[in-house]
Amino acid sequence: MNVEASFLDSLIQAVQCSRKYRDLQIPRATLEDILAYEIQHSATRKELEANFRKSLHNVIAPYLESIDYPDEAAAVLELRAQKPSTETLKAWCVSRMRLHASSRERLLFLESFYQTIFAKTGTPKTILDLACALDPLGLPWMDLPASTRFLAYDLHQPRLDFLQAFFDSFYPQARAIHQDILVESPTEAADCAFFFKEAHRLEKRRPGSNRELFAALNVRWLVVSLPSRDLSGHHSLEAYHTQLIERAIAGQSWQLTTDLAGDEILFFIQKHD
Ligand SMILES: C[S@@+](CC[C@H](N)C(=O)[O-])C[C@H]1O[C@@H](n2cnc3c(N)ncnc32)[C@H](O)[C@@H]1O
Repeated sequence: MNVEASFLDSLIQAVQCSRKYRDLQIPRATLEDILAYEIQHSATRKELEANFRKSLHNVIAPYLESIDYPDEAAAVLELRAQKPSTETLKAWCVSRMRLHASSRERLLFLESFYQTIFAKTGTPKTILDLACALDPLGLPWMDLPASTRFLAYDLHQPRLDFLQAFFDSFYPQARAIHQDILVESPTEAADCAFFFKEAHRLEKRRPGSNRELFAALNVRWLVVSLPSRDLSGHHSLEAYHTQLIERAIAGQSWQLTTDLAGDEILFFIQKHD
């Protein structure tokens, strides 16, 4: 369908001013990208508006937990002032990871999760954590050298401000980056990228997007995790998610191996030696 730029702009502004999204500062590039896709799949303006809101909701809303990020950023500074032991720092991180579904589900096997990954990839010098949410609070379990660079990407500015406060206090080599990893895929060279529990949703936003993202990344290892079971826990998603990854790398000369860590399937994609 054909629509004037002013109509698209009004849809973007409505989102940017809405109570649901205004504090998040979702990158404009994300909103434009979702609109560009949905224009091709909508017959009328009304349908475009509905499809745009639905797609945006699917990208952002399932992970809008009730964390007060400015408060949490202030709490980080208080914690730093206490010069916490590693055990105290871990306990604090667990209490925050509990507040977000993806990291909460990983708490029972946090230690073995990162051990399984680094046993395969070796100890990385630079890690990209793509669509990170609160996964960077797992840093105390990763047991990395202090020199390791850790670049964490997300769309949600207040969450990133909180993570940056955490990094400044405890991991000065880490950075929180406000960037849509699909529209502006990171080109930073790294030995390892994490892409946990998001590939299935990225593919829903725009079919073929994992293939696009995986090709753009300048990394040696891409470690993708996906849930091995559905939310009820009754049905295996292994075959379905394996197909998703196989489609995303079809025709490439990359090596794929898999492993299981807790209830996540780990896909190790080695792009080069
Ligand atoms: C399912 S959670 C990810 C969980 C995290 N990787 C983990 O396993 O703990 C989804 C997160 O991805 C972010 N996100 C979704 N699409 C993104 C994109 N295109 N670029 C950057 N971040 C994105 C969301 O803001 C949200 O914080």
